[in-house]
Amino acid sequence: MADTQPTLSDLAAKITELSETFTRHLRENDVQPPTFAANSPISYSKLTPEMFYIRQMLADALMDMWYLTQGPSESIFNYVHTCMPDAAALNIMNYFDFWSAVPLDGSASYADIAKHTSLPQDVVERVLAHATTLRLFSETEPGKSTSRIQHTSRSAALARSPGLKALVSTILDDAGPPMMVMNQALEKYSCGKPALTKDMSETSFALLHSGGAFGNFANSWDFIENDGEGEKKGWRQRNFVEFMRYLKEIFHLEKAVLDSYDWKAAGKITVVDLGGSGGHDDIALAQAFPDLTITVQDLPEVKPTFEATVPADLKSRVSFMEHDFFKPQPVQADIYMLKLILHDWPDHESVQILQALRPALKPGSRVLFIDYVGKQGETEGSPLPRSIQQMGTATDLRMMALFNAKERPVEAWRDIFRAADERFEIVRLEANPLTFFVVIEAVWRE
Ligand SMILES: C[S@@+](CC[C@H](N)C(=O)[O-])C[C@H]1O[C@@H](n2cnc3c(N)ncnc32)[C@H](O)[C@@H]1O
Repeated sequence: MADTQPTLSDLAAKITELSETFTRHLRENDVQPPTFAANSPISYSKLTPEMFYIRQMLADALMDMWYLTQGPSESIFNYVHTCMPDAAALNIMNYFDFWSAVPLDGSASYADIAKHTSLPQDVVERVLAHATTLRLFSETEPGKSTSRIQHTSRSAALARSPGLKALVSTILDDAGPPMMVMNQALEKYSCGKPALTKDMSETSFALLHSGGAFGNFANSWDFIENDGEGEKKGWRQRNFVEFMRYLKEIFHLEKAVLDSYDWKAAGKITVVDLGGSGGHDDIALAQAFPDLTITVQDLPEVKPTFEATVPADLKSRVSFMEHDFFKPQPVQADIYMLKLILHDWPDHESVQILQALRPALKPGSRVLFIDYVGKQGETEGSPLPRSIQQMGTATDLRMMALFNAKERPVEAWRDIFRAADERFEIVRLEANPLTFFVVIEAVWRE
């Protein structure tokens, strides 16, 4: 097998070839490529699915080059040495908003940043010393004591994009700590058993947040909803709402929702969006389809963000209602939308959420289920680039840490509907492996 193994030179050639293809595409499509300068574009615009795929193959080749350049043991040593400090530095800078402490078109002294963040200057200097090695900020005069701090494109992206900042907070600050105790949770609750415990009181999250220094929260949603006191109460939920809005933007999910059903043909109908967050999908739906009347249901801390963002001219058609989706559904509607909801829960809870709809369902009522498919079934042809597979595998482990849930292949959703009630008839199931999304339309029959 040794002869099939790539050498450094093979990888270098592959990287050159893929880079050239990618760059040619950017040139031909008039896409301005990012640089490390603060005024750079913060992402590649207008990437076609084909170019996205090429870029991910390039990312795979670069990772292989990184591994092989160092060799097996040093690539692990170096990774272990830096991965937690990298994540910690990013989390600290995000939490204390270093991003806005430095002007986008100028520089700031360490003392300015310390004042802005209320952190000791020594801490600021040490965090930034590591951050600048990651091209997050840079020194105006590298290595000199007179140096000030300026943005790079990577730190500027966080200053410019509230959504990216919210994503870092949710993924690192909300979900990061439980992931570091997954081994302990597995040892305590699942080791020696044939399957992972599905009990939500036996998650890594629960191990960390069941009393003690990290608070007492029933699950990750309870934490996101209730962590913080006084003005800080609800800060994680406000952040999460922004994170969801951002996901919609970067994955172009607005179109997925608008195309998920023939809303125009449906005419004057009522819709309930369960766990609809700040109503970003519902505002887009109501704007596109003037006959729709939509109730957004979510936890109480979401309400202020919803009220602040819903346009005045939509208030009569898009309203917010506090509702726990485990409780019996109080609103009779034509369509119940569940987008990115069941994905966060183990099977038992997913079934309960669907069953809680039953009191409101009448023959012909519909459930429109839209979710992320992080686990592909068996694939034909060559496997997806590893950097694409990681999008699903990483989410899968996060789901395990937070909820003892898992990424499911498309077909698993049929079983969830069936287990919830045989009166749900699935009349449509559309899965797109390139967008990673599945749409299921189920009709209630009696
Ligand atoms: C992953 S987000 C999906 C948001 C939105 N549907 C979207 O696709 O952007 C899950 C949502 O479920 C909400 N949620 C969690 N537990 C809930 C509960 N018991 N009752 C109602 N909403 C809940 C969260 O607050 C969050 O807004």
